Amino acid sequence: MIIIKTNAEIELIRESSLLVSATLSEVAAFLKPGLTTLQIDKMADDFIRDNGATPSFKNYKGYPFATCISVNDAVVHGFPGKHVLRAGDIISVDVGVYKNGFHGDSAYTFAIGEVAPEVIQLMAVTRESLYKGIEKAVAGNRVGDIAHAIQEYTEKKHGYGVVRELVGHGLGRHLHEDPQVPNFGKKGSGPKLKENSVIAIEPMINLGTKDVYYDTDGWTVRTKDGKPAAHYEHTICIKKHKADVLSSFEGIIANEKKNKELFSDY
Ligand code: MF3
Ligand code: CO
Repeated sequence: MIIIKTNAEIELIRESSLLVSATLSEVAAFLKPGLTTLQIDKMADDFIRDNGATPSFKNYKGYPFATCISVNDAVVHGFPGKHVLRAGDIISVDVGVYKNGFHGDSAYTFAIGEVAPEVIQLMAVTRESLYKGIEKAVAGNRVGDIAHAIQEYTEKKHGYGVVRELVGHGLGRHLHEDPQVPNFGKKGSGPKLKENSVIAIEPMINLGTKDVYYDTDGWTVRTKDGKPAAHYEHTICIKKHKADVLSSFEGIIANEKKNKELFSDY
């Protein structure tokens, strides 16, 4: 069942989503070679709690961290840990917060130092594909219209692998609500999008094969061919003419540009 939110509820989801964005902006300012991914998780966890919220992911189905940090061939749900960041890495940082009874969920992929041009291109196309999906996220369209727009742009136009095993989702009082929002599908298929429903759109796009496997930790999803993957996510509210994007990349991009250790020229 797709839950329609009241305007007051949407404002609370916006507050949670913007706290996710603020957390990712802090991460963008803090990132540098030499840090471990666990240090990034700790910083994000503290920032979320200092802002009167709790990390949505911690203890969700037993997930042990505040963030998912997925390095290079890790697509999503990477465990923060001992990996020391070095120039040439790309990392997806996925954050959820729970505040005032509502979740917000967003993710961004960062390049550490100089990264191969084909990988920068993968990141740029994946981020752009998120906006191609958002363009279709209007009342009266169907979930398949979003899915198709993302697949067309990433797979058909650029030849990347679109992960089939994981999808975006509705959210609100729960981190995962109906509907599922795949990044592949047919125009005009799937549930109809209704005004004031809230979804997270999250393209997970691989440079090479679409095929993935689960690492031995039971969570980290990796590409089968070991090539890198990118992942961006926004929480959005469906409206009549244009979706209301409840999370924001603005602060992240500003801090990315200020942070000399990051390669942000894309
Ligand atoms: N954005 C991801 C999702 O919606 C993060 C979930 S991580 C989990 O699936 F640990 F909470 F599962
Ligand atoms: Co999500």
